[in-house]
Amino acid sequence: MSKIAEIKSSFEAEVKSCVKISEVQDMKVKYLGKSGELTALLKEIKNLPSEERPVFGAKVNELRNFIENALQEKLFKVKELEMQEKLQNEKIDVSLTSVKPWGALHPITLVENEICNLMIAMGFEVASGPEIETDYYNFQALNIPEDHPARDMQDTFYITDSILLRTHTSPMQARLMEKKQPPIKMICPGKVFRSDSDASHSPVFHQIEGLVVDKNVTLRDLKGTLEYIASHLFGSNTKVRFRPSFFPFTEPSVEVDLTCSNCGGKGCSLCKGTGWIEVLGAGMVNPYVLENSGIDSGKYNGYAFGMGVERIAIIKYGIPDIRLFYENDKRFLKQFVK
Ligand code: PHE
Repeated sequence: MSKIAEIKSSFEAEVKSCVKISEVQDMKVKYLGKSGELTALLKEIKNLPSEERPVFGAKVNELRNFIENALQEKLFKVKELEMQEKLQNEKIDVSLTSVKPWGALHPITLVENEICNLMIAMGFEVASGPEIETDYYNFQALNIPEDHPARDMQDTFYITDSILLRTHTSPMQARLMEKKQPPIKMICPGKVFRSDSDASHSPVFHQIEGLVVDKNVTLRDLKGTLEYIASHLFGSNTKVRFRPSFFPFTEPSVEVDLTCSNCGGKGCSLCKGTGWIEVLGAGMVNPYVLENSGIDSGKYNGYAFGMGVERIAIIKYGIPDIRLFYENDKRFLKQFVK
């Protein structure tokens, strides 16, 4: 009988200190389980004289009921406590002010769209091609020889010996001519990649390739097209100047300058005092490239140009560092929202 009283008082002390559901469950096992304290007590019954057994049995049952009820009650309380604690911890303040989402077209996208729309109005179609390109389309098809410096690891990101990130949009010239016979009048905007990085060079930048192949195309057609774009982008006083240059895929080749939009041609820091700013490379499509892509160079000729979108945007908006375009600083980007 003293054992029963002992178990009861230790149970009462223990149940008081329970604060978790798991602790209550552990107590249930400890007192009422198969190898719990009460089961052990019941096993003692056989050692008692037979007249004492009913009284003892009744007392143990009484204790069992008491423990069961107490644990049930405790479980209820502890669940309530845990719920309160959870509600407290996961509280949200519905009175906080909202954060407005903000988004706008990137300045590079704005300039690219503006140029493409001008070209579309002149009857050009828009195409796009792979940024991961083969050595064949990026170099070989464009008559760029094995030992040309552009092929150097220092300038080109190679993926394997023959697969690379395109260094210009010109591979699209070969891809377009393989697919379609003249007349061809297309532009291809897209990302290009070069291993180069400073205030005026970015490892990723954007170009727009232009290609016209037809009968009797001349450099004057190219100049007229570029003058049209320049006057719409920078104002009708903007002049276009051709300087002789060299690209393996055009012959003759030219570098194209525009009168500086900042000083109007007088000379300033943007144009380094010359009054002119270089914006693209161009030329008459090399007959080798035409033939290589399945076009009869005796019948057709054409012009091509590759325009740097960042360069145009830099001049248009007077941006001092090309890296500003890629930093995603909202203070910079917000300035281009109309
Ligand atoms: N692909 C040349 C470059 O990236 C530009 C170019 C395009 C020149 C088309 C001539 C004709 O520098």
